[in-house]
Amino acid sequence: MKAPTGLDAFDVPLETLRARRSAKWATYPDDVLPAWVAEMDFELAPPIRAVLLDAIELDDTGYAEPGRLGSAFAGFASARFGWSVEPERVWVAADVMSAAVEVLRSFTSSGDGVVVNTPVYPPFLKSVPEIGRRVVEVPLVPDSGRWELDLDGLERAFAGGAAAYLLCNPHNPTGRLLGRDELAAVAELAARHGVLVVADEVHGPMALPGATHTPFVSLGEEAAAHGVTITSASKAWNLAGLKCAVIVAGSAGMQEQLAERLPKSLRFHAGHFGVLASVAAFTEGAAWLDALIEHLDGNRRRLGELLERELPAVRYAEPEAGFLAWLDCRELGLGDDPSAPFLERGRVAVNPGPTFGSPGRGFVRLNFGTSSSLLEEAVRRMASTLDHA
Ligand SMILES: Cc1ncc(COP(=O)(O)O)c(C=O)c1O
Repeated sequence: MKAPTGLDAFDVPLETLRARRSAKWATYPDDVLPAWVAEMDFELAPPIRAVLLDAIELDDTGYAEPGRLGSAFAGFASARFGWSVEPERVWVAADVMSAAVEVLRSFTSSGDGVVVNTPVYPPFLKSVPEIGRRVVEVPLVPDSGRWELDLDGLERAFAGGAAAYLLCNPHNPTGRLLGRDELAAVAELAARHGVLVVADEVHGPMALPGATHTPFVSLGEEAAAHGVTITSASKAWNLAGLKCAVIVAGSAGMQEQLAERLPKSLRFHAGHFGVLASVAAFTEGAAWLDALIEHLDGNRRRLGELLERELPAVRYAEPEAGFLAWLDCRELGLGDDPSAPFLERGRVAVNPGPTFGSPGRGFVRLNFGTSSSLLEEAVRRMASTLDHA
């Protein structure tokens, strides 16, 4: 059995990482450095490792019993965001995307429009048509390097009959974290036009220094009446394979609607290990999360320095949350999808910008949830692509 190394939990050696069998590490051959899908390269938080090892020792691999999840999440929400959550208003699901899809399916009808802010996490663009709804794009506006919400565009889309808004905050891939004023404007528009706001806040626990995450339904009555917050420990504590997420109602009215509309089977799709690990994360994972945030804060700055040195033509604005960087590579002359030459010639896997919607042409998404030495290696490999041009 692997014991904690006692080394820096955020500096796991490459050979240890190569032994992992998750999607990030198993998709490409060993000469490719993976910096794509949103998994992190760190050791587990000790309380999470302990609860999972304990379950293995007990051969405790049955169905999930999510009884403690609501109060665990409520405690975390209160301590981290100053958000008072009623534990019984916390609904469990297998993961954030299936939660978002089930909420959209339950609250909208076939053919309805669902607003998204492109460039955006690619499953948003795929899942909406999969359930027979229409994607309505309201692109973010690049304004002096910062991606801004187009409130006029949002209003036009809402007035044009969109039924729901799949809000990604913090935003993947740009790393933008919306402030209270912007969120209040969204709530006001949603209330005026009767639009449901489905707020995917999975990167929220990783707000980086200088930014504050505001859960949408914590904003006030309008937001709580017209929105749900969906989140998970899966990104901040790297638990995506364990399967557990929460849907949170902020008002009695929304709670009633969730009770009436959500499929009763939803909770049975969550994984037992996911629930155990999420409870540990929410109740005992704050110290590790603080250390993670410090490491990511260092890496987002380091990435800026590395790009300036190795790839000065790439434009990059430091994200305000999380471990994903949205890199504007249009001046490199590598075409609409620079991830292809980066992979072929540089042997580094990053996400192709065009999969995030048409504003992603010429961009790539880089995952910096890794050690600073592997981050440096990723940038070095991207730069070496140009030598081989
Ligand atoms: C914004 C966003 N939503 C959802 C997910 C997926 O979360 P889950 O695996 O819990 O569905 C991700 C994963 O990277 C994400 O970035």
